[in-house]
Amino acid sequence: MKKRILSGMRPTGKLHLGHLVGALDNWVKLQEEYECFFMVADWHALMSEYEDTSQLSDLVIDNVIDWLSSGIDPEKSTIFLQSQVSAHLDLYMIFSCFTPLGWLERCPTYKEQLREVKSRNLNTYGFLGYPVLQAADILVYKSERVPVGQDQLPHLELTREIARRFNNIYKKEVFPYPEAILTKTPKLLGLDGRKMSKSYNNTVDLADSADLIKKKISNMFTDPKRIKLSDAGHPDTCNVFAYYSTFVPAMKEKVRDWCLHAKLGCTDCKKELALNIIEKLRPLQQRREDLLKDKNKIKKILQEGNEKAGAVASKTLKEVREAMQL
Ligand code: TRP
Ligand code: SF4
Repeated sequence: MKKRILSGMRPTGKLHLGHLVGALDNWVKLQEEYECFFMVADWHALMSEYEDTSQLSDLVIDNVIDWLSSGIDPEKSTIFLQSQVSAHLDLYMIFSCFTPLGWLERCPTYKEQLREVKSRNLNTYGFLGYPVLQAADILVYKSERVPVGQDQLPHLELTREIARRFNNIYKKEVFPYPEAILTKTPKLLGLDGRKMSKSYNNTVDLADSADLIKKKISNMFTDPKRIKLSDAGHPDTCNVFAYYSTFVPAMKEKVRDWCLHAKLGCTDCKKELALNIIEKLRPLQQRREDLLKDKNKIKKILQEGNEKAGAVASKTLKEVREAMQL
């Protein structure tokens, strides 16, 4: 029997290169080895973007199109929408009853977001409970493995604590203790060298046109110590070089040589990078074009996924109710 995986993404914006190398490429590989559930986490999006909901339903479809274009295969994996599987909320409610406030208030991701996000008020009841819903997402499928980035580890830790607390209180081993599967690719920074994020406007989106990609990449920051064309560059501290390492590993040594021996200017180095990234995205964008023509197909894939996910989730909920004598 294959082990089960659940992972999710919040539909808060268009997907970009960071999603591709940080999650999707990995999900595509995992499909062969695991029974995969991939969820569009629309409730989680709402927990922080509750004010402007106008884009949400379009983004759900758009993100799923990118998943499919990247190689997520609905024949192999269950693709579904969180809000359409009601057992997530049932379990979230039950977990809320016994999750101590301190666990949530101490959560590093929570503290960081409260500190850093100024554009909206996250000092809400819902946002504090974000990891409780995430625990419900994972545990309602009894998934033992969760592919996520490093930043999600505190939520996985909380998921195990909540599972342990449930199993202890109701004296039944209903839930497993899920572990993360970390992505191996080193974290890709944004075009400006800061954390990659749509709010910094420093991403190359999977749907960007060739011209836009050229423009964005031509504005990338390079090695600040390299001023004249004849200066040697420092590839290992240059973000452009990091992009080569991730997207065009075959050219790494050649670019290093160009850079160290000042054989190529930064402008040309970036031009070459842009061409390579455009080439890499081409097949994905072709599939994207085809899928855009048939949005009903996307809706159907989600509907079927919702049903499959719902069947598994309801079964767990039944066990939960039994363990609690409800
Ligand atoms: N919190 C995750 C993120 O921001 C998204 C998410 C919601 C998730 N539920 C999940 C990830 C369950 C893994 C498992 O990336
Ligand atoms: Fe960076 Fe390329 Fe310029 Fe070297 S040549 S500093 S790798 S942009």
